Amino acid sequence: MAVAPGLEEALAEEAREKGFEDARAVPGGVEAQGGWHEVWRANLEMRGAARILVRIGAFRAFHLAQLDKRARKFDWAQVLRADVPVRVEVTCRKSKIYHAGAAQQRIERAIAEELGAPVTKAAALVVKVRIEDDLVMLSLDSSGEALHKRGHKPAVGKAPMRENLAALFLRQAGYRGEEPVLDPMCGSGTFPIEAAEIAAGLQPGRSRGFAFEEMAGFDADAFSALKRQGGPAPEARFYGYDRDQGAISNAGANAERAGVAAWTSFECRPVSALEPPEGSPGLVIANPPYGGRIGNRKLLFALYGSFGQVLRERFCGLAGCGCHLGCRTGQSDGDAV
Ligand SMILES: C[S@@+](CC[C@H](N)C(=O)[O-])C[C@H]1O[C@@H](n2cnc3c(N)ncnc32)[C@H](O)[C@@H]1O
Repeated sequence: MAVAPGLEEALAEEAREKGFEDARAVPGGVEAQGGWHEVWRANLEMRGAARILVRIGAFRAFHLAQLDKRARKFDWAQVLRADVPVRVEVTCRKSKIYHAGAAQQRIERAIAEELGAPVTKAAALVVKVRIEDDLVMLSLDSSGEALHKRGHKPAVGKAPMRENLAALFLRQAGYRGEEPVLDPMCGSGTFPIEAAEIAAGLQPGRSRGFAFEEMAGFDADAFSALKRQGGPAPEARFYGYDRDQGAISNAGANAERAGVAAWTSFECRPVSALEPPEGSPGLVIANPPYGGRIGNRKLLFALYGSFGQVLRERFCGLAGCGCHLGCRTGQSDGDAV
């Protein structure tokens, strides 16, 4: 399971909670053992993963002729279909074979000539090959489109947060689907929508397709059996505010498509006018502009000043102080505050 650097441990924790018991963090992701059912289930259920890669084989090769011979002997028909186009991506590190382009050409030719599958640059199905210390490791990208694309959010602003990152930041902030969540600068609504989905027990991959559906051995009935309805309606509510009316309209439409509109509310309001909603204490989490992708850095000083003051004065979360919504910060990569 691949993930952005720094989030491996959080993803491993999610994987273990979801029944991938041997999941362990490695640089850039999480490793777990399992068969195709586990691969399908990981794609369907893992909120934090960017994509699910499946190791399909490994062999040693010290020169291109050996790579050619061993790639031809590999049982591609066990995992790929002759009628589905495929492309190959290769990286080489600390190996006698150092020319990734030449290695790619050998493996593409082996697949085309031994299996008969068309090899095209535009193919959605990707065979990822890593050659490291002369060991050739073959993997398939079972996800296809990155998993943050849940299939519910065509309407986004200039700098949307990826859903899988939002899920992991919520996790790191201690959110487990029970308390209300408020994002004062919600843009397209990623945090409140993701939080509402978690609370409602919805599978993140319920509305989208995956690359593994085009692979050999895919069993549509067995995959359907892994899909389940969400749990009972959550008691908590999920709030998004933004000073931009266009962002608020997008967020509402996205929540509707995700099937969580009943538990989310979005309102056009600047941070300076933020008030804690009625109800039990919860989590404030945001991905404010930081002057990188959008916004003028100098203008951000006033925003951060006002944000801090509003949180301190109206959201301190101390018992008996009159606040309804507590504030905890979930900083993990400098992006979420
Ligand atoms: C980085 S974007 C948030 C993206 C969002 N997490 C998403 O996934 O789409 C920052 C948002 O902060 C909003 N914003 C900037 N200044 C604000 C203010 N003073 N009050 C409320 N919202 C503000 C912008 O309109 C923008 O939508």
